[in-house]
Amino acid sequence: MTIDITKPLLVEPARLSRPFPQDFLFGAATAAYQIEGAAFEGGRRASIWDAFSRVPGAVINADNGDVACDHYHRYRDDVALMRSMGLQTYRFSTSWSRVRPDGGALNTEGVDFYSRLVDELLDAGILPWLTLYHWDLPQALQEKGGWTVRETADRFTEYALDMHDALGDRVNVWTTLNEPWCSSFLSYTAGLHAPGHYSDSEGMLAAHHLLLGHGQTVRELRARDESLNLGITLNLTVADPVDPTDPADVDAARRIDGQFNRWFLDPIFRGQYPQDIFDEIADDALRAAIRPGDLEAIATPIDTLGVNYYHGEFVGGHAPAVPPKAGDAPTDRPGRSPFPSSDGIFWHERGLPRTPMQWEVQPEGLTRLLVRVSEEYARPAGTSLFVTENGAAYDDVPVVEDGAVRVHDDERVEFVRLHLGAILDAVDAGVDVRGYFYWSLLDNFEWAWGYEKRFGIVRVDYDTQERSVKDSGREYARIIAARELDD
Ligand code: NOJ
Repeated sequence: MTIDITKPLLVEPARLSRPFPQDFLFGAATAAYQIEGAAFEGGRRASIWDAFSRVPGAVINADNGDVACDHYHRYRDDVALMRSMGLQTYRFSTSWSRVRPDGGALNTEGVDFYSRLVDELLDAGILPWLTLYHWDLPQALQEKGGWTVRETADRFTEYALDMHDALGDRVNVWTTLNEPWCSSFLSYTAGLHAPGHYSDSEGMLAAHHLLLGHGQTVRELRARDESLNLGITLNLTVADPVDPTDPADVDAARRIDGQFNRWFLDPIFRGQYPQDIFDEIADDALRAAIRPGDLEAIATPIDTLGVNYYHGEFVGGHAPAVPPKAGDAPTDRPGRSPFPSSDGIFWHERGLPRTPMQWEVQPEGLTRLLVRVSEEYARPAGTSLFVTENGAAYDDVPVVEDGAVRVHDDERVEFVRLHLGAILDAVDAGVDVRGYFYWSLLDNFEWAWGYEKRFGIVRVDYDTQERSVKDSGREYARIIAARELDD
């Protein structure tokens, strides 16, 4: 056979790159207490994390957020860094105790800081994505019962309206709460986060009042300005049964999914707590706390659902021969399950790689999660989906090369690429995912883990506050510029 070389050969090209949808937003996330420092400057008063981090044994190395990344003083440089990486959006939180130090009266100096930050972002062409509550409740409100009392939800809405008064002309995207599962069950039931209580009942009350604060805030902000983009960020998981044909394993997965995912998704999108779990865990205090109209408020329509995804759960109804390494209790504070109904649920090992947090690396779980949340909740409600957090702590080793600090964090490079690929898989499956925020822009105060765990794509030297973009940050910047994931 002769080949006519004047005609192009029809060869199917190998798939070399995968583009991101046209309007897909790339960003990075942080939270006030984890990066700001300046804990008692500018009129700020104590939050529950200032108090909890001083409880002996609550945080590794007795670390606290007094200085953190000193972002309060270095925000201009940090925004310049974001710009140099090509970030299109920056998700940050405002500190309630900076803005309303006692939970009540306004501190204009505190608000001014966020006003300057927002201006700096806008000047850099970066979309500000504001979260109102990332766990740092004013301690004065905790002393009145914290999230276990209804008044805290009202104070939260007032604080949100103050923020809107100050920034509503420049900030369009508002997230009420970050990961309410953590600020309720991990905080009031498992004792691992501030305020460090150990009560099933308090966890459920806190979750209800957090949700109520969310719903009534969305309602009020919407009434003020219909054009705002309003939403909430949930930490969600994929609960896989060890043996999908074993009813006890399937039931364990149902209970984890119910207490972790549906306990928050169902009220927000369907105006009701999931009946199966409600029947299993609701006590008299919760039943009495749910007042007529609460669930309608909680189900006020939202524009955006933020999904924070780190790993899934592999659970069964039978104890494993060899339990997996535990990952969630860094200190020797007494351990207690964050799940009010946990009897007979066991975590198993399935051989996936784990990060130093002992969290499984499971990118395909993100694809399944996005498909499920889109089909069952977001799409029917006309709500957009964003991945508002995803990231990993690794044991970074800084090296000096040509006089500059470099971090060759190949595992994190791979982690980011795998999860962006998982998002593209969800897009291919028809899910409308609008953006991705890496957690975190900077190494920072990782709650009970203190400064020991580093999640940043930018290294922070806590002695000098010097920032150095890690290889993962460079790779992320390259992907953002290309707007595609290459092989
Ligand atoms: C979720 C939280 O929102 C954030 O504050 C935390 O640092 C990361 N997960 C990593 O644990």
